[in-house]
Amino acid sequence: MGNLKTIHYNKAIVSGKLEVPGDKSISHRAIMLGSIAEGKTTISGFLNGEDCLRTIDIFKLLGVSIERTGTDVSIDSPGINNWKTPTEELYAGNSGTTARLMLGILAGAAISSAVLTGDESLSVRPMNRVTNPLHAMGASISSENDKDFLPLKIEAESLTAIDYTNPVASAQVKSAILFAGLHAEGTTIVREKTISRDHTEQMLSHFGAEIQSNNGEISITGGSSLSGTNVHVPGDISSAAFFMVAAALVKDSSITFTNLGLNPTRSGILDVLRNMGVDVNVMNESAENGERSGNVTIAYNKIIPTEIGGSLIPRLIDELPIIALLATQAEGTTIIKDASELRVKETDRIAAVTNELTKLGANIEATDDGMIIQGPTVLTGGTMDSYGDHRLGMMAAIASLITTEPITIIDSACIDISYPAFFEDLEMIVGK
Ligand code: S3P
Repeated sequence: MGNLKTIHYNKAIVSGKLEVPGDKSISHRAIMLGSIAEGKTTISGFLNGEDCLRTIDIFKLLGVSIERTGTDVSIDSPGINNWKTPTEELYAGNSGTTARLMLGILAGAAISSAVLTGDESLSVRPMNRVTNPLHAMGASISSENDKDFLPLKIEAESLTAIDYTNPVASAQVKSAILFAGLHAEGTTIVREKTISRDHTEQMLSHFGAEIQSNNGEISITGGSSLSGTNVHVPGDISSAAFFMVAAALVKDSSITFTNLGLNPTRSGILDVLRNMGVDVNVMNESAENGERSGNVTIAYNKIIPTEIGGSLIPRLIDELPIIALLATQAEGTTIIKDASELRVKETDRIAAVTNELTKLGANIEATDDGMIIQGPTVLTGGTMDSYGDHRLGMMAAIASLITTEPITIIDSACIDISYPAFFEDLEMIVGK
């Protein structure tokens, strides 16, 4: 059954100020680009979550020196052209971002070969969305079983640029191609029908790559060498989303997030909260290394249903489980559509969210590409499975704010993947 944690924050008012840990997507990319670039890079606000630690471990095996002190990281790299061929397998753990972006990076690296592996969940997540375009660039990526899943072996090959229209709205796919394009001959173009998070583009530009981005068309010219620099990582809006919904659920609640990442390709949750009648106030916006941040106050008001689909989906893809919980308390029908990507996340999040909220008494129906939620419903307590998925674990914990009975979470330890101090921060904002 994995480890069990029982909690009940029965209608506790959420209040105070909180700086959530660093953004997971930006933390990965800061380590990756600091390791590709030659020389010294410093990172402040790094997320010490398990996924990002896997990325660090991989670059250490490639001969990059990386030291962590709290949330500060210093990298001293010989540069991608001087990495060493690893003598061990490169283990991405549960991290899709590590695995997919590393495939693009390793495809163009000057090492003879490397084998990339992952945990049980990652080993059944599709990799062909990345290996197909990389093969088209000339990459040598193979699997022992002729399947497109990890483990995959990457061998050195010279790459040529491609012009690729991304069939899935996935920043991981886009990023893998851009990283490969950095070491390919010519100008690689990635076209997106729906714009996905642009942290890779922002950070490549910050490290000195020749990259342009215009309305869903991103081009990168291979051959430029990058040099180390400094990166500040703002707080992760996907982590804050759990406490935003906590405040939106309980009467009289109000919480302020400081130094919160507000990249417009990630801030769809704020639009949805506003559409659902929740009070949202954004203050003191600024930008560093291409990433916007600021302070955000979320206060309880009313909860009305909404429809979420189209270009909004990639801007809040990881927030949909917690938005589904909020929708159980809206008066009327909330529709989430165009989100079939949820089926290939750390777990099938459409099935998992529907199962777990149904157990509590929610009126929620799974569709092929989303969920239909009818509210408001009283939620009882009971056992909720995280399926080893950090976002499901955190959704279960927040549910305990409105359930009539305690919630027991199966495998709450998986929350360490993105938010190791989650329960401490939850206790703080509910005044325990
Ligand atoms: C991520 C992109 C998204 C997101 C994931 C992190 C990234 O995945 O769900 O948590 O850092 O690029 P997809 O690109 O597969 O949509």
